[in-house]
Amino acid sequence: MTTNRPNFGKDFLWGTATASYQVEGAVSEDGRRPSIWDTFCRTAGKVAHGHTGDVTCDQYHRYPEDIALMRELGARAYRFSIAWPRLFPEKTGAAVRPNPKGVDHYNRLIDALLTAGIKPVVTLYHWDLPQYLEDAGGWPARDTAYRYSEFAQACYTAFADRVDMFITLNEPWCSSILGYLSGEHAPGKKDRPAAYRAIHHLLLGHGLALEAYRAVRRPGAIGITLNISTPRPATRREEDVLAADRAADLPSRMFLGPLFGRGYPQRHLSAYPEVAMPIEGGDLDKIGQKIDFLGLNYYSESPVAHDSGHPEHFRQAETFQAKTTMGWDVVPGGLLRQLQWVADHYPATPLYVTENGCSYADSLTPDGLHCHDPERIDYLRGHFDACRAAIASGLDLRGYFLWSLIDNLEWAHGFTKRFGIVYCDFADGRRIPKDSFYYVREVVAGYE
Ligand code: FCB
Repeated sequence: MTTNRPNFGKDFLWGTATASYQVEGAVSEDGRRPSIWDTFCRTAGKVAHGHTGDVTCDQYHRYPEDIALMRELGARAYRFSIAWPRLFPEKTGAAVRPNPKGVDHYNRLIDALLTAGIKPVVTLYHWDLPQYLEDAGGWPARDTAYRYSEFAQACYTAFADRVDMFITLNEPWCSSILGYLSGEHAPGKKDRPAAYRAIHHLLLGHGLALEAYRAVRRPGAIGITLNISTPRPATRREEDVLAADRAADLPSRMFLGPLFGRGYPQRHLSAYPEVAMPIEGGDLDKIGQKIDFLGLNYYSESPVAHDSGHPEHFRQAETFQAKTTMGWDVVPGGLLRQLQWVADHYPATPLYVTENGCSYADSLTPDGLHCHDPERIDYLRGHFDACRAAIASGLDLRGYFLWSLIDNLEWAHGFTKRFGIVYCDFADGRRIPKDSFYYVREVVAGYE
């Protein structure tokens, strides 16, 4: 029976999400060669406990089990990414034939999903840049954008007959800022000008891949996934309101600006005179081509206050909210505010929540058969309500992908953070649905 809460429409695209390096394992199989994450995980002190993606959930072999779980969940879609180093282990180029064994793996995965009635949603790039391209300069080098576009084209050729939803990039803010400025992610560089060149070349790669997709004239949809940040002001004081607005410049306007044909925000760039965006003729037109949808990954929201000591005059303010084990505040209302902000500033774009979820210190019951995760259920309930409210207020929100189907390698945190609605025993790969799995099943079925 339905309750008095309005339900999601029957076309709402419910899915779960993962990424290749986080779940696949099999890093040396069938010709795959290292990505920047293989290298980073092997660099002392970079990843918790020296954990690696060598095995992780072993989805490369165990995908039939995971698809069976998705079916049991009632999910309509699965968002996963293609490992570039599986398709082009040694070299990427228009004249290079993709590694047939790499292509075969994704063909098997896609076909098995379709057989199970689950729509494959493909992220082309979820951070596993082939190491040889990093050695040649990585994202700060313009050439990487062209290589990426060739990789994207190979994916269209191989998969676009059965995949009709592509996401060019996942969170280019992380690839550029965490990868080349803070050094928390692979390749672990700390160089602001390089990080900003990376931003431009990631976006150029997106533009080139979009152009190539339009050229193959497939009926499907293509978009990009961002983790923008739209902080709330800590108080109503004008200086805090301005601070919160400025805090959105780097994570949000540096990406949405060029993607929506408005260029990079000068207010932000002026704060960092050492930075120069390496724009060449025609780049901004390519980057600003129309996307079919925008994917948003939302986990948390922060309050921001004025701080004259910061180059952009803001700082994170203190909070009171409960936190997940990532230390991220639980703020479901922030999801609604973010969707509304995007719709107000970048109207007429269909939206998907392409990631949302939480990590908690989950453990199995002593008999090893259950995992009680009431905090995750609360977290999800709040965020589902925010999605309902967004739809009720007329926003064009078309789907929601839960991060994650299964516990996996949480990047620099290794296996210390569990985001799954399915528990993974990393010792033997056993999958145990958590209580939240059954909660989500009810919601997807329309009974909450
Ligand atoms: C996002 C990433 C995803 C996952 C979640 C927790 O930034 O896109 O791979 O690690 O965070």
